[in-house]
Amino acid sequence: MFIPSKTAFNVYSKFTTLRKHPSIAPLFPPIIHSYYDQTEVKINRLGRLISPLFKGKKVAACEFQDNKAFKNPWNAAWIPKMLALDDWLLKGDLHHIVFRKLALHRTIQDRLMNRNSPITQLVVLGSGIDHIGWVFSDKCACFELDIEPMITFKKKLLPTLNQKVNFNDFDATKNALDQCLKQQPAFNSNRPSLFITEGFIDYIPKENLVSLLSQIKHINPKNEWMSTHFDRTLLSRNQRFFFEFGVQITGEHLQSNLHKEQVVSIGSNIGFDLINEWAHILELLGNHNIFSEAKLNRIERKVLHQNNMNGCSILHFK
Ligand SMILES: C[S@@+](CC[C@H](N)C(=O)[O-])C[C@H]1O[C@@H](n2cnc3c(N)ncnc32)[C@H](O)[C@@H]1O
Repeated sequence: MFIPSKTAFNVYSKFTTLRKHPSIAPLFPPIIHSYYDQTEVKINRLGRLISPLFKGKKVAACEFQDNKAFKNPWNAAWIPKMLALDDWLLKGDLHHIVFRKLALHRTIQDRLMNRNSPITQLVVLGSGIDHIGWVFSDKCACFELDIEPMITFKKKLLPTLNQKVNFNDFDATKNALDQCLKQQPAFNSNRPSLFITEGFIDYIPKENLVSLLSQIKHINPKNEWMSTHFDRTLLSRNQRFFFEFGVQITGEHLQSNLHKEQVVSIGSNIGFDLINEWAHILELLGNHNIFSEAKLNRIERKVLHQNNMNGCSILHFK
């Protein structure tokens, strides 16, 4: 199976495994689980991990969801061992993956549901294999932008039921964002949009980030921007080595590290004010959600009780 962005697949595979753990599953709504249950089947089919016999059958959507209709390689016994290895090399990474998916889901939901919020469109840049467009496309117009091979891959993968996401090929180092969105008849630049850059800004040069943010503001001054931020200088020497080496072997290129203050200053020069930031799962859940240590398995404990990787946060700008 050819997956154009290995870093996107890495995030996908960690999250789809973690979200099934009994204490983590209830943090996410059924629609998110439904997206991953269905895409797991499609990835297995694309990668021919399911027998040709299964491929020929017309299987009801519910059979996709309970994973009982076939032996799902995502549930194999060695997968938790891979997660444990990941967290040994990159302490706090499992927490980080669940944290960022939870923070973005809750904040996007709030921006769309809050009666005082002007946001009525979502634009996901470098969307990879994430669920955001599919999950929110029945609430507002959703646009997913990524490099062409990734968009082609994602279109094959997306659950067909209720599929209303608008896709665009977009290379942030070559294409103008406003021109790209103009090609989308469903995009209305008069309506304020929330632009999401989850796990994306590390992969584009600073000058492209500046240009991207200027275009977002220029398209509509009421546009908002939400991003993950990862300051690699705050990692330990070993963690930084394993993270950068991990990306290097995927063939993708990390750009120079930007400190949070630099990102905030770039945003501020363009008219984006930082209005909120989060760095830990417990901040999102409130104090009443203390998970009982005795009931958690090893991976759940790492996710729910361990600290986030140093330097990882979610930033929301208006
Ligand atoms: C680490 S993945 C994150 C995927 C997804 N946002 C998530 O967090 O699950 C980075 C994504 O950025 C995309 N990307 C990298 N460089 C890009 C560029 N120059 N223009 C558009 N997309 C790019 C990759 O194809 C990939 O899907």
